Amino acid sequence: MDTRTIQSRDVAYQLHPFTNLGRHEAEGPLVITRGKGVYVYDEAGREYLEGLAGLWCTALGFGEERLVEAATRQMRRLPYYHQFGGKANDTAIRLAERLIGLVPVPMSKVFFSNSGSEANESAIKLCWYYNNALGRPRKKKILSRLRAYHGVTLGAASLTGLAIAHRDFDLPIPQVRHADCPYPYRYARPGEREEDFATRLAESLDAQILREDPDTVAAFIAEPVMGAGGVLVPPRTYFEKVQAVLRKHDVLLIADEVICGFGRTGRMFGTETFGLGPDIMTMAKALTSGYLPLSATLVSDEIYRACVRQSEKLGVFAHGYTYTGHPAACAVALEVLDVFAERDLLGHVGRVGPRLLDGLRALGDHPLVGDVRGVGLLAGVELVPDKPGRGTFDPPGAAGTLFVARAEANGLIVRALQDTVALCPPLVISEGELDELLRRFGRALDETAEALGR
Ligand SMILES: Cc1ncc(COP(=O)(O)O)c(C=O)c1O
Repeated sequence: MDTRTIQSRDVAYQLHPFTNLGRHEAEGPLVITRGKGVYVYDEAGREYLEGLAGLWCTALGFGEERLVEAATRQMRRLPYYHQFGGKANDTAIRLAERLIGLVPVPMSKVFFSNSGSEANESAIKLCWYYNNALGRPRKKKILSRLRAYHGVTLGAASLTGLAIAHRDFDLPIPQVRHADCPYPYRYARPGEREEDFATRLAESLDAQILREDPDTVAAFIAEPVMGAGGVLVPPRTYFEKVQAVLRKHDVLLIADEVICGFGRTGRMFGTETFGLGPDIMTMAKALTSGYLPLSATLVSDEIYRACVRQSEKLGVFAHGYTYTGHPAACAVALEVLDVFAERDLLGHVGRVGPRLLDGLRALGDHPLVGDVRGVGLLAGVELVPDKPGRGTFDPPGAAGTLFVARAEANGLIVRALQDTVALCPPLVISEGELDELLRRFGRALDETAEALGR
C-alpha cells in the first residue's frame, strides 16, 4: 500500500478522536507502522522519538517482547473469560491481589474495566451506590476541577473540566460541579506564595461545598498532577489542605492515577508523591504499558462493604463489562509489574527525571518559554507571546500547533495542550535518548519562534 493510498483510506473510513475533522480531511494522518524502544516509525520509514509515550501510556516503550509473550501465552491458554455471576479467571485474580498489595493506602477490592474513562465512570457509580446503601440518597454530587481530564464517557466527560469536552455534547450531567484549578502560573496572585495559593483554593473549595450543601456532595476527584489540562503540578500543601476540607464534610476522595500511576511521578503512584489518602483509586494506561486496554477502580473496604449490603438488598451488583478482567490484558499487566520491579524502573525515573526537567529549565531564557513545570518523567513547557506579561496566544493553541509540527519535522512527537507542550516519554528512556529528545525539542522551539516572528 503506498503512502497516498493508506492516508486517503484513513480519511475515507475513520472518524478520529480529538481531531479537527475538516483539517484532517485536507491534511490526512501521520500513519505510524512500527515502534521500537522510545522510537516509532511512519509508513515512509521516518523515525520519531515518542515524547508522550503514545497517549501517556507506553511506559515500557514499544516492542517489549516480554509483554507480547505474556499476552500470547495467556491467549493460548485462555483467551477470554468473563467475571459475571461469580465467574472469574485466575489471571485477573492474580492481578487484583498484586494491585491491592501495591497501592500505598488500604484498598479492599479491584474492579476492572477497559479504559480510564470507564474506570472513572465506575467510580462515580460506586459513589452513588455507596450513598444509596448508606441511606443518603441526596449525597450524589461529584466535585471535579476546572481543566481536569477524566475521560469522555458521559460521566467521565462531565468530570473533565474542559469546555471542549462538553460543548454540543450536552454535558456535563447535572450531578457534576467543578472547583478551582491549582495552576499557580496563571491563577496565583502576583507575589502570592505557593502555600498561600493552596490555602486560598482550599478555602474556596470549603465555601463551594457549603454553598452546594455538604449533604449533597459525595466525592471529589483529582489527578495528582493534572495531565491534559496542561501538566499542572499542585502547589505545595494543596492536597493536605484540600483533604482536610473533604474530611470535614464527609466527602470521598477519588485519586485518578490514570497518568500518574506506575512510576510517572517518581513514586509508584501520584498518591504517594503528593500525600493523598483516597477512598477510590482509578488507573489505566501504564498498567499494561498501553499494549492492551485495561483499567482498574480500587475501592476502600468501607465502600465495598456498603456495596455488599446493597447488592444483597437488590439481588445483584448490576455493573460490569463483557471484558471486565480480560485475561490477556491482565497477563500483560502482571508482566509490566514484573518488569518494573526487575529493572528498578522507579530508581531509573529517580535518576533520569531530573535530567529532563533540568534540560527543559535550561531553556527558561528562551523568549517563547513562560513556564517549565513537572515531576518525575512528566513535564510541561508553556509557550507565551510575552514573557513578563504572561499573555496568551490569539487564538489559544496557535504556538502549540506550530510547535507540534516543527517537533515532528525534527523527529519528535509531543502533544500541545493549547500552548503548553507536554512531555511524558516512555519510562525506559535512557540518558542519551533524553539528551536527544532535548536537542530535538530545542530545535523545534527555535523554529517555532522563527515561524511566529514571520
Ligand atoms: C487522568 C486521566 N484520566 C482518565 C483518562 C481517560 O482514559 P481513556 O482515554 O483510557 O478513557 C485519561 C486519558 O488521557 C487521563 O489522562
